[in-house]
Amino acid sequence: MERKKILAISGSTRSESVNLHILNAISDMYSEEADWTIYQAIDTLPHFNPDLDRAPLPETVSTFRNLIAASDAVLICTPEYVFSLPGSLKNAIEWLVSTTLFTDKPAALITASSSGVKAMEALNLIMQTVGVSLGNTGTLLIQAPKTKITREGIITDPITLSQIRALAEDLLKRISGSNQ
Ligand SMILES: Cc1cc2nc3c(=O)[nH]c(=O)nc-3n(C[C@H](O)[C@H](O)[C@H](O)COP(=O)(O)O)c2cc1C
Repeated sequence: MERKKILAISGSTRSESVNLHILNAISDMYSEEADWTIYQAIDTLPHFNPDLDRAPLPETVSTFRNLIAASDAVLICTPEYVFSLPGSLKNAIEWLVSTTLFTDKPAALITASSSGVKAMEALNLIMQTVGVSLGNTGTLLIQAPKTKITREGIITDPITLSQIRALAEDLLKRISGSNQ
């Protein structure tokens, strides 16, 4: 059977991002179970404008859409900015609203931020609106992540590690055996 593909989208554009560290840690832990692509390029997408949402699409948008189309599942890991999603992540999702690429796509959402409560709520609502399938263990809020994950990306807090494992394993279980 063909190996499953998971697209992991970082909502942070920082090179030393804790959210990026989490995605890298998950892809390392489960590299045998799936092929992971870490998408770190939301800041290369142009500002969404419905006038541009037609052929020929901006190249970065086509690439992003193709990556989602080719993936069996999507994992988003994001910080909270000013009590909501970072604008770049919201912009990236807006480029998908006119498509059905997220419809029934198995997904998992992590918010890793000082507080993160509002971003988690917003992301949940947005992703359910665009039609992803979240399953039972599809969301996780990691508060004060810098006290739980080192600068080298090691998850030192055992509860956080087990929560991350549960979310990743649930996502992998949901796509195992599917023929997407
Ligand atoms: C512009 C800006 C706004 C922020 N606003 C919030 C906020 O509203 N709530 C929160 O929990 N953290 C907020 N933070 C803190 C970040 O979410 C936190 O530093 C997070 O760990 C950054 O994630 P990263 O390391 O993946 O970039 C903000 C940070 C920045 C730069």
